[in-house]
Amino acid sequence: MPEPTIILRGFHIFKGLLDSPAQAALLEDLRDVVARAPLLSPDTPYGKPMSVQMTSAGKYGWYSDHSGYRYAPVHPNGAPWPPIPAKALSLWRELVSADRGPDCCLINYYGEGARMGLHRDSDEADFNWPVLSVSLGNDGLFRIGNRTRGGKTESIWLNSGDVVVMGGAARLTYHGVDRIRFGTSKLMPKGGRINLTLRVVD
Ligand code: SIN
Ligand code: FE2
Repeated sequence: MPEPTIILRGFHIFKGLLDSPAQAALLEDLRDVVARAPLLSPDTPYGKPMSVQMTSAGKYGWYSDHSGYRYAPVHPNGAPWPPIPAKALSLWRELVSADRGPDCCLINYYGEGARMGLHRDSDEADFNWPVLSVSLGNDGLFRIGNRTRGGKTESIWLNSGDVVVMGGAARLTYHGVDRIRFGTSKLMPKGGRINLTLRVVD
């Protein structure tokens, strides 16, 4: 099992865990997912569309609209979510658990100007399971806060191929993405950043 490069407020950060060929192979698999389950800009419960586009793979997809944030068994177009790509599952097996797979792989796409405000991942049933996150494409400025809203924060740039495990005390820590630095990766011809988050839901 690889050792994290840095542990920041309990977030285990594995810099460059995926090399360029592994990033490209994972991206290919994600293209198949997106072809079957198109990216959407979900509305927040407050009615404003998110700047990040999303879709999912797995038993559940994470989704949001006027009735709130939740996990849904089908894409809003009615089709079941595609299976989670094998390469993402093998990262989970290596870093989280060989016994229990994730129920959801949320795929976030950050285009020009997209950001994600500070939040906690708290729609799952059992917080003993860590969240595993994979960054692809342009660099994203990841901000880590505290277990309650407010207080001092710390930021770190996540680059293509970086993997983060949020477990233990960090599982319910506030985090977000302030901005994307375009032109920092050649992985995607049109630029942008993809972040995958794998989670146990039930
Ligand atoms: C998230 O917290 O849902 C996304 C994190 C990231 O994009 O790195
Ligand atoms: Fe999150």
